[in-house]
Amino acid sequence: MNVNTCKLIDLPKINDPRGNLTFIEGGRHVPFEIKRVFYLYDVPGGADRGGHALKKCHQFLIAMSGSFDVILDDGRKKKRIQLNRSYFGLHIPPLIWREMDNFSSGAVCLALASESYSEPDYYRDYKQYLKAITTAAR
Ligand code: TYD
Repeated sequence: MNVNTCKLIDLPKINDPRGNLTFIEGGRHVPFEIKRVFYLYDVPGGADRGGHALKKCHQFLIAMSGSFDVILDDGRKKKRIQLNRSYFGLHIPPLIWREMDNFSSGAVCLALASESYSEPDYYRDYKQYLKAITTAAR
């Protein structure tokens, strides 16, 4: 598990003069079955979201509108990725710390998740997260 296991994935795009269309099937376009969908919107300028890692849950993030940055962190290496199109997204496997910032005005972040919401699946404390992954690596 490291930041390089987080992949940008292109989604199908049906170009059409009436407006473009993109679709996502769980297990086909994203590497997990989709159990939950949530979205972030009306994010005020300068706000940060995320600030956690998940123990089991895979997520796939898409900028449905506008743009934002995702900062990935595996405890050793950090990587900043900008999401700014609705026809690709970022797969984040479990045990990767992520933060999100630099939201443009009107940005909407769609998140697909492999698990139902479960607070015990979260590491919300960075020190605890580091301790857990270093202990697991031993
Ligand atoms: P949080 O994980 O802090 O949001 P983010 O990491 O995107 O900044 O979630 C904010 C609140 O919403 C928190 O009280 C948990 C709740 N929540 C749910 O009840 N269900 C969900 O699917 C999600 C993602 C969050």
